[in-house]
Amino acid sequence: MSDVEALKREAGIAACRYVKSGMNVGLGTGSTVKYTIVEIGRRLSEEGLEIIGVPTSEATRELAQGLGIPLMEISDVKSLDITIDGADEFDSHFSLIKGGGGALTREKIVANLSKSMIVVADESKRVDVLGKFNLPVEVSPEKYLSVIEEISNICPGKVLLRRKMTNARDEDKIYVTDNDGYILDCEFGPTITNPGEMERMISVIDGVVEVGLFVGICDAVFVASTSGVDIMVNPEGRLS
Ligand code: A5P
Repeated sequence: MSDVEALKREAGIAACRYVKSGMNVGLGTGSTVKYTIVEIGRRLSEEGLEIIGVPTSEATRELAQGLGIPLMEISDVKSLDITIDGADEFDSHFSLIKGGGGALTREKIVANLSKSMIVVADESKRVDVLGKFNLPVEVSPEKYLSVIEEISNICPGKVLLRRKMTNARDEDKIYVTDNDGYILDCEFGPTITNPGEMERMISVIDGVVEVGLFVGICDAVFVASTSGVDIMVNPEGRLS
């Protein structure tokens, strides 16, 4: 296991301490929260933990099902006790960029339904100003060209339609999300000083399904570095 992988595992497992029997748990998507989900599966079979999970992607659904975690659909849930998820970037105000794995729409729905949201990440995701990681925006396929035009008016860099490498001949196809949407990856660079305002500006564009900025949602970040797991609790959040 590489050093980064070991850090992801440490953060992923540490956040499990918030998961208790009887909870409905939002299960995020990505290579860090994968370790949280595997740990939940272990506690289910070895410690008698009883939870119901709500997956934020088809990949997470498959993983959780394979581990025997009972699941519910997002549409059947009115509220969740907690969501644990990864992030592509987080800042000191607990604002996030998410969607590197393309699951931002369901991730935001599930996080918003939850009484609290915990992010698991390694130290490399911590930034002063959001935007070095290209901001993912999910869009309707029918509207993606006009959305690219509109976002280009506010984005200093390129607005890229996400593509998926499909075969060895490097022929690439458009990446399609679990909701049949497209993803635009927007090169803002570290310029997003007011993520709330940016989220509002992009989300009103016709054809935008969801913006990968999560503002005022995250309550704590479990961040793993070589010196251990640091738990940052949002003083304005629901866990403080
Ligand atoms: C999925 O769409 C994303 O929001 C992920 O949660 C995010 O990209 C973090 O993933 P990793 O833990 O794999 O870096």
